[in-house]
Amino acid sequence: MRIEQLKKEHIPQLCKLEQQCFGAVAWNKSAFESELEKDDALFLCALAEDAVIGCAALNNAAGQGFISKVMVAPAFRRQRVAQALLEQMSRLAKEKGMYELTLEVRASNAAAIALYETCGFEKLGIRRKFYRLPQEDAVIMTRKL
Ligand SMILES: CC(C)(COP(=O)(O)OP(=O)(O)OC[C@H]1O[C@@H](n2cnc3c(N)ncnc32)[C@H](O)[C@@H]1OP(=O)(O)O)[C@@H](O)C(=O)NCCC(=O)NCCS
Repeated sequence: MRIEQLKKEHIPQLCKLEQQCFGAVAWNKSAFESELEKDDALFLCALAEDAVIGCAALNNAAGQGFISKVMVAPAFRRQRVAQALLEQMSRLAKEKGMYELTLEVRASNAAAIALYETCGFEKLGIRRKFYRLPQEDAVIMTRKL
């Protein structure tokens, strides 16, 4: 497994992975394309051979890195792919001067909450009814860099 910055050629595979992972609320092609154009964003892809098996995305807002996406293909889960993506993301964010990472996660997403806790994030609070399809609370998590 290797980790690369997002490239245009990764996008078709990312769209398929996104559908598998997020269904009705999946990002479309233009959402991924816009990540390529942002100066204040980091977008990492995990690859096995030439297959995109996971990704993590972050936006920098005045030193606070907001993690907007983490996903791993079902066949490659529990092999520390997401952990490797988040570790590399944290290193890069620190190098770019960010002091903190934050994210939101569905309250029912036990796998993701366990992942973020493993990576040093702590629960900060709840955003009531933040998500749609289905409606659900968000847990806000944060980690100092
Ligand atoms: C959440 C997700 C990204 C985890 O990816 P992953 O590559 O399987 O995670 P890792 O293998 O790096 O896990 C690292 C650690 O996190 C925890 N963890 C990850 N998945 C877990 C699960 N299903 N149950 C319990 N703990 C879990 C464990 O502590 C794990 O270490 P261990 O395997 O040694 O016990 C993946 O399940 C996924 O893509 N889910 C669908 C998309 C999603 O929900 N994204 C997050 C949106 S906020």
